[in-house]
Amino acid sequence: MMVLSSPRREILLKQLPRGAALAKTLRLKRLEKGLGLLESRVAWRHPMNMIHAITSRCNASCAFCAWKDETSQRDELTTTEIKTLYKAARQAGFVWLTFWGGEPLMRSDIDEISSYASHLGFTCTLVTNGSLLAKKMDRVVPYLGNISISLDFASARHDDARGIPGLFDRIVRTVPELKRRYPKTKVLLNCTMMRANTTPGEVHNLAELAKELNTFIIFNLFRTESASKVGDAQRLKDSAPSQDSLAEVFTMLRRLKTEGYPIANSYSYIDRISTNTLSYRCHWPKINLPMEANGDVVDCMHWGISPIANIREKPFTEILRHPRLIELAGECGEACHKCVSMHRFDASAIFEGNIEPLLSWSRIF
Ligand SMILES: C[S@@+](CC[C@H](N)C(=O)[O-])C[C@H]1O[C@@H](n2cnc3c(N)ncnc32)[C@H](O)[C@@H]1O
Ligand code: SF4
Ligand code: SF4
Repeated sequence: MMVLSSPRREILLKQLPRGAALAKTLRLKRLEKGLGLLESRVAWRHPMNMIHAITSRCNASCAFCAWKDETSQRDELTTTEIKTLYKAARQAGFVWLTFWGGEPLMRSDIDEISSYASHLGFTCTLVTNGSLLAKKMDRVVPYLGNISISLDFASARHDDARGIPGLFDRIVRTVPELKRRYPKTKVLLNCTMMRANTTPGEVHNLAELAKELNTFIIFNLFRTESASKVGDAQRLKDSAPSQDSLAEVFTMLRRLKTEGYPIANSYSYIDRISTNTLSYRCHWPKINLPMEANGDVVDCMHWGISPIANIREKPFTEILRHPRLIELAGECGEACHKCVSMHRFDASAIFEGNIEPLLSWSRIF
């Protein structure tokens, strides 16, 4: 974290939160976010994006899922508990909210939750397997800024990978409908690179499909660490691609992106994967706060294993001052780069002053 020394910085530090509060009152969301990010770059207060697994239930059975064994029997937060949490987070200065899980659309109150969050002023993102999107579209999408739909194959092989018959066709039919009815909501496809799809043929087909659907696509690396106490490490290792196949595919992705395919990955990330040099100083915990379905605040280094605290046991604002969160946002987090996802790498690169990932993202959002 940057150490403040000059009086100018001290003045800036006083003015930034005031500016962000004024922007919030005036409902100038972009300005509020910009000032908040600048503040977290200069001196960290707490994250601004809550990544909330609003349920750990799922209607899919992906063998590669790092969150599969995750706490499925644990007690989900109720609608009222979620609303109280979101209100506290918004008052504390959080501006983004990501719904994920499990499958977030499995919650019967997803419309009430997303509407509430949107009215609080959050920019909401839904990460979904897409299976229930057509059914729930009109109840949920009006409250979303962004939707990320998982898509691992450009064919019915996707149905087999996810264990949901007809899923591929459903996604291909839903995306144009979604874009037609809700043009302000950004739609993004997200491919998880596992052994079975890390081939030039599969990746090329996915890039072609994204082009046809006029939608950006992210190719994200595979996590081999289970996010659960009962996780079966071998199951994940069996699904992981080889480094050689990743290097081959990411070299091709660079070419496709240069040719104008709608590939959302930054060149910075693509180059690191294709040369097998994904080391970086992680700044992700400065911006993001992951939460489990039962209200656990996640320690990103021990996901699903040793939570930092639970919002049922401690007020949220008190948890935000927890020493472990401060550690993760400081030198301890910066010394780590065990996560391979593009989101971790790109957020960290931007914090280090590399604007290429920012430019890449700004084409999408
Ligand atoms: C945990 S899921 C939750 C949201 C929703 N169920 C879905 O699949 O989109 C969020 C994302 O994590 C990805 N994912 C699952 N297991 C993974 C792993 N082992 N490594 C990397 N990404 C993974 C999924 O493909 C999905 O894009
Ligand atoms: S749909 Fe998402 S949460 Fe469900 S098993 Fe697959 S990756 Fe995991
Ligand atoms: S790389 Fe390390 S510090 Fe960064 S999100 Fe992953 S576990 Fe946390």
